[in-house]
Amino acid sequence: MTALLADDIPVDTSLFTRIADDIYSQGYSVQEYALPEALANALFLQNNAMSEAEFQAAGIGRSTDFQENSFVRRDEICWIDGSSAAGADWLSWTAQLKQFLNRNLMLGLYSFESHFAVYQPGAFYKRHLDAFKGQANRVLSLVTYLNPDWQEADGGQLVIYTSEEDKTGIRVLPKFGTVVVFLSEEFPHEVLPATRSRSSIAGWYRVNGTIGDVIDPPQ
Ligand code: OGA
Ligand code: MN
Repeated sequence: MTALLADDIPVDTSLFTRIADDIYSQGYSVQEYALPEALANALFLQNNAMSEAEFQAAGIGRSTDFQENSFVRRDEICWIDGSSAAGADWLSWTAQLKQFLNRNLMLGLYSFESHFAVYQPGAFYKRHLDAFKGQANRVLSLVTYLNPDWQEADGGQLVIYTSEEDKTGIRVLPKFGTVVVFLSEEFPHEVLPATRSRSSIAGWYRVNGTIGDVIDPPQ
């Protein structure tokens, strides 16, 4: 069944079903040609239209413990707040996916944060986890790619390791419209250097960690 979001972005429930089945059975999902084409094209144009000034060197940690560490990651990022039409459509599509996964997998996903990321040639993001066990924060990671005509020889693979011990991993080419979803606490992963500039959107669903009057997510 296909429903429509604002601006005619289709919601492909068969795609959402494949993602949910994969998350349930193996904890991660890699779907090629998955992002709705109109949405992918709009995000691609938005990403290209943004000036260098809008991107900032990515860091590690949030607010008070934020650190830039160029040994770990060399990408540049810009958070998506929905003020552009493409950003707003992206947030509605990711909200539809959240609702679907909550209904089908009972994940209790609550908030979502995401950013555009550009890796210049040679840039990388060393092996890392997006969340740490026991710190109820990021539950599910979502990545999509905005790189037309990406070839194996261009590099820039996302390598997903299926356990702490896994040294080989699963390699994903950052091809236009590929969508990757994985449990944030379970899968170490890294981004290999590319020979071309590599554009992606990385996002995270979080559970509601509000305790007392400490509001989650942190501002
Ligand atoms: C991240 C990340 C993966 C990618 O931003 O945390 O792992 O393929 N990105 O861009
Ligand atoms: Mn990551």
